[in-house]
Amino acid sequence: MVEVLVTGGAGFIGSNFVRYALERRQDWRVTTLDKLTYAGRRENLHDVMDHPRHAFVQGDIADAAVSTPLVERSDLVVHFAAETHVDRSIMAAGDFIRTDVEGTFVLLEAARRAAGLRRFIQISTDEVYGSVATGASRETDELKPRNPYAASKAGADRLAYSYWATYNVPVVITRASNNYGPYQFPEKVIPLFATNAIDDIPVPLYGDGQNVRDWLHVDDHCRAIDLLVEQGINGEVYNIGGGNDVMNVDLTKRILSALGKPMSLITPVADRPGHDRRYCLDTSKLHTLGWAPQVPFEKGLHDTVEWYRRNQWWWRPIKEQDPAFRSYYQAQYERRT
Ligand code: NAD
Ligand code: TYD
Repeated sequence: MVEVLVTGGAGFIGSNFVRYALERRQDWRVTTLDKLTYAGRRENLHDVMDHPRHAFVQGDIADAAVSTPLVERSDLVVHFAAETHVDRSIMAAGDFIRTDVEGTFVLLEAARRAAGLRRFIQISTDEVYGSVATGASRETDELKPRNPYAASKAGADRLAYSYWATYNVPVVITRASNNYGPYQFPEKVIPLFATNAIDDIPVPLYGDGQNVRDWLHVDDHCRAIDLLVEQGINGEVYNIGGGNDVMNVDLTKRILSALGKPMSLITPVADRPGHDRRYCLDTSKLHTLGWAPQVPFEKGLHDTVEWYRRNQWWWRPIKEQDPAFRSYYQAQYERRT
């Protein structure tokens, strides 16, 4: 059996990856290590929690007493755990530095000592490139992160690289574009707008709504990571993008139409400070390995919105019963309107 450690496996992408891995990789035994912050939820893994090839450990990646033994016994580490929301990093960056940078450092130190480790996948992000006015970011481009989330991820990205260059830790770094799909915490734009719209609550569109993001379905992301586990080259970076460059205002209209809701729900609000205008990835390096996104954006978005409509058991407790979410929402949006 291949021993696989998935950090952050109770979050959005991590939980989709755990499910994908248990289904497609019969020879993998998966351990999820997750602190269960506000964004990590057992509900995200409800159908695989008791799977015979899955174990769940609640713990902090930055706590070496917990994470080191798990890394040391692993053949493969897929490191998703992070604080991930740009707006929260603008409000308070401390947890981003602690988890995204220091937590990654603790895992990499353990990886140096893990005799059988054959791959450490560092999940980075396209946000490390900063805003790109024209063209598409290549893996060799300069990193120009512009918000505390992006900067902490850039720190982790380069730290992981340094552990390959210095200690020969078998690191592969991925930089994916904006993901969408089921189980995404409803602070991010697609689940927030879909769940607000289901309840006829206005959707707060930042600034002029002309910012562009490249949307990648989470299943396509999982397939890319799986491919890189086998075929990635240590020390290399791989962009993963869906090739769906969409302006926020158009994305919002598509979400509302999918739900049959009026465009009058769109409420322009004050812009995010330092809001990156556009991300766009050149993914030719990954394409040469044989990967291509399989989920067409129209279908993927429609299915995703439908998932939030059908799975209200999953998000209503967060939006309606969690006082922390309510105070976050107030702090985030009241000052904007
Ligand atoms: P998420 O916020 O949904 O999940 C993060 C998970 O990490 C949660 O389960 C949380 O409990 C866990 N976590 C946080 N701090 C931890 C700690 N100290 N120890 C252990 N677990 C901890 O995030 P996501 O959207 O699933 O993103 C996963 C990874 O993918 C992140 O590294 C993120 O930077 C990267 N990424 C995300 C996107 C995107 O669009 N969502 C795009 C590119 C890259
Ligand atoms: P988000 O989902 O937070 O992802 P990221 O900041 O990592 O790209 O936001 C996606 C885009 O949607 C981004 O341009 C900001 C915008 N946005 C809004 O217009 N309103 C909102 O309430 C949120 C959360 C995001």
